[in-house]
Amino acid sequence: MIDLLVRDVRVRDEETGEVSAADLHVDGGRIVGVTPVADDPVDAGQVVEGGGAWATPSYVEPHVHLDAALTAGQPRWNRSGTLWEGIACWSERKPMLTREDVIERAERTLRWYAANGTLHVRSHVDVTDPSLVALDALLEVRDRVRDVIGLQLVAFPQEGICSFSGGEELLAEAARRGVDVIGAIPHFEDTREDGVRSVEYAVELADRHGLRVDAHCDEIDDEQSRFVEVLATRAARSGLRERVTASHTTAMGSYNPAYAHKLHRIIARSGINMVSNPMVSLHLQGRFDDYPKRRGITQVKELLAAGVNVAFGHDDVMDPWYPLGTANPLQVAHVGTHATQLLSRDEIEETFRMVTSRAAAVLGLGADEYGVRAGGPASFILLPATDGYDAVRRQVRPTHVVAHGRVVATTPPPVTTLMWPGREPSEVTFSPTGGPGA
Ligand code: FE2
Repeated sequence: MIDLLVRDVRVRDEETGEVSAADLHVDGGRIVGVTPVADDPVDAGQVVEGGGAWATPSYVEPHVHLDAALTAGQPRWNRSGTLWEGIACWSERKPMLTREDVIERAERTLRWYAANGTLHVRSHVDVTDPSLVALDALLEVRDRVRDVIGLQLVAFPQEGICSFSGGEELLAEAARRGVDVIGAIPHFEDTREDGVRSVEYAVELADRHGLRVDAHCDEIDDEQSRFVEVLATRAARSGLRERVTASHTTAMGSYNPAYAHKLHRIIARSGINMVSNPMVSLHLQGRFDDYPKRRGITQVKELLAAGVNVAFGHDDVMDPWYPLGTANPLQVAHVGTHATQLLSRDEIEETFRMVTSRAAAVLGLGADEYGVRAGGPASFILLPATDGYDAVRRQVRPTHVVAHGRVVATTPPPVTTLMWPGREPSEVTFSPTGGPGA
């Protein structure tokens, strides 16, 4: 007898892209068989009726700040809506952090992520705090949630590496305590030279410890902020390449076309990943502009065309930098389609990949950790949707979330009955295809 049988789902072949109906046999936390839908199913400890839903790998969150999540309004609201007032509010909240406070908010947010179908999360954690209380708490959370969510932690120097007293030592200490990724924030450093030096320090530290790099890079509406060229060059020359990610890069939305053209080549050649956080960038950037007001979004469409791996992240969930958010990557994809004008049929499908497989590549998830296939991990979601385009358009919630072979969340699809005057009551359908989930 196997642990779990997921009956009658649609699975997309990773090689050919072909979609076929299948039963998924799950045992010992792995998918042990993908077979044609059987009339006479095998014995299983638990049976889930898929009803023709799409079995797809989970969402992946490539960029969030769990240490700050759910602190919006504490001790005060960010009234200007700028990144800078957000940092000021956070530095007032930081002294109040305790182990219990960080664990409670981080785990609550991760439960929301899991309910929304997200089983891999990369979280930054501010290490410009000599007590490192948030870092130690999140290292603990990483262990506490590992049966459901794979959590990567980035040592994030919110107030700088070179421009913050003891910044270099705190980052090095975070590496020793066991983070997965080293961060940086070069545009926040006091001088261009400090910014360059901070990137070099972060890359060397990561290289020494065998870690990845994910830098908050050029998160400012300043066309003179040009640290992504430094990060990409250091990534290429150190050999870290795809183990390096540049997050935000909102200044790229202000670069002149000649420099942008040169930069696309440098980034593509380096192999680094890019993460855009459209919900938060739309909110925080452009705040110093009169009209016309910039969008403050990096060049997502152009980077994709240049062959760069670009993913979408949430960034903030109800914190000093963003008052909204439900830890739902599909909402990020929906906002991202608009913010970046990725709105053709194929481009909308691409935005679904930006919160799934492209985000998985940012985290460096291997074939043994991500994908729906025989021999693969039994961590996936069932979406009552025809494809990524359909899921993004209708914001379809997963009916089932399976993590390491266990069903960890279920959400019955909502049904709305319309009592239209002069017509019989009927269920409202939103699908153009009449496919599953209509
Ligand atoms: Fe961020």
